[in-house]
Amino acid sequence: MPEETLTITDNRTSKTYTVPLFKGCIRTMDLRQIKVNDDDFGVMGYDPAFMNTASCQSAITFIDGDKGILRYRGYPIEQLAEQCTYLEVAYLILNGELPTESQLKDFVKEVTYHTMVHENVKKFMDGFHYDAHPMGMLMSTMAALATFYPEARKIGDPASRRLQILRLLGKMPTIAAYAYRHSLGLPYVDPNNSLSYTENFMSMLWKMPAEPVYKPNPVLARALDVLFILHADHEQNCSTNAMRSVGSSQADPFASTAAAIGALWGPLHGGANEQVLVMLDEIGKMENIPAFIADVKAGKGKLMGFGHRVYKNYDPRAKIIKRTAEEVFQVTGRNPKLDIAMELEKIALSDEYFIKRKLYPNVDFYSGIIYQALGFTPDIFTVLFAIGRNVGWLAQWQELLGDKEQKIARPRQIYTGYDQRDVVPLNKRGK
Ligand code: CMC
Repeated sequence: MPEETLTITDNRTSKTYTVPLFKGCIRTMDLRQIKVNDDDFGVMGYDPAFMNTASCQSAITFIDGDKGILRYRGYPIEQLAEQCTYLEVAYLILNGELPTESQLKDFVKEVTYHTMVHENVKKFMDGFHYDAHPMGMLMSTMAALATFYPEARKIGDPASRRLQILRLLGKMPTIAAYAYRHSLGLPYVDPNNSLSYTENFMSMLWKMPAEPVYKPNPVLARALDVLFILHADHEQNCSTNAMRSVGSSQADPFASTAAAIGALWGPLHGGANEQVLVMLDEIGKMENIPAFIADVKAGKGKLMGFGHRVYKNYDPRAKIIKRTAEEVFQVTGRNPKLDIAMELEKIALSDEYFIKRKLYPNVDFYSGIIYQALGFTPDIFTVLFAIGRNVGWLAQWQELLGDKEQKIARPRQIYTGYDQRDVVPLNKRGK
């Protein structure tokens, strides 16, 4: 068996170092011993966007980006999306195993119990301007929850941690729905405990006060539930990294989740689903596609919903979404944007520019088209992503707190500024 080490020769000093390999990685702290003299700080790693740096060990999600594989706790995403509900998957992601029937019943009951928000949360949300972006409302209201539950700061107490996780899972759809209702000027709808997680969300979104009952369409409710499953976790993406980074300072989970929501909002991350619709609207007609693709290839903008840091193959979630879209369209009628999206995909998958860079449709390419068919406006799309991803953030936060190797996240930098210089008095600095 060959030794699991790397031998590094420092050509500046001709010294040789043996560095252990750990699960295929070197610990970059092992590089610090490589110095030219005693005053030297030692060698560091430089990796501005974490292109080749693992920030943690995690047992939650496995991705093989070249093969297009995604598994939660070892289970293929295709099987989970086909056979499970979102809360079943949430239990799996949080606890490591799929629940038994009675475990699931208890978990559903516990989450359902926490769906209501304090009346002052509604008043807080009333303060937003009528056209406030729903992601801004979700992020701020999530941060505000920290003030309603100050005991959430006891992050070392497992019982408190569990309670906050249940609260966050229960309340996220309520706040999301209220953000939506607020933007439409509609009164908030209280949660209905007799409905499933996703049906209850639909009821809070679309129940009209004048109607005594709201009956969610089961096909649409299932489609939304599947979309939540597909978004539930995705290992160390930008928002999860934000959750872990803020969580590493021992901030409470509401503050960390608010930070994660902020990261998700960006158009290169979860905000891409909204931007795909903006893009499809801009393209407008099939005949405009070639000119649009030519612009993308000329560096004048991106094909939103394409490309991924990890997937260099078809995103397995995009495949499932495409199938789910067909089921939704049987109920809602076909979204005409689908034709433009499919044509874009066809051209992109056969074009040298995209092939060379391994750019395939990602989860956001088709999700917006379904969301729109379900009746959502584009500004709420990323909020839907956040509802699904909530459990992933929480599971990763929980894993971080249990990881003895983790400390406050604090990257190093390469300083490129001035060396010391003296302050010139104001009246001598010239114009
Ligand atoms: N359209 C056109 N060109 C692209 C695209 C795109 N969507 N994505 C990447 N490229 C090009 C990029 O310009 C670069 O070309 P070159 O080598 O000539 O400079 C090359 O492909 C490599 O791209 P990169 O930006 O270095 O790759 P990255 O890993 O840093 O970025 C990404 C990944 C997802 C941010 C990027 O592909 C992108 O901006 N995609 C569009 C936004 C999007 O759909 N985001 C959702 C991601 S999936 C959901 C989620 O997890 O958030």
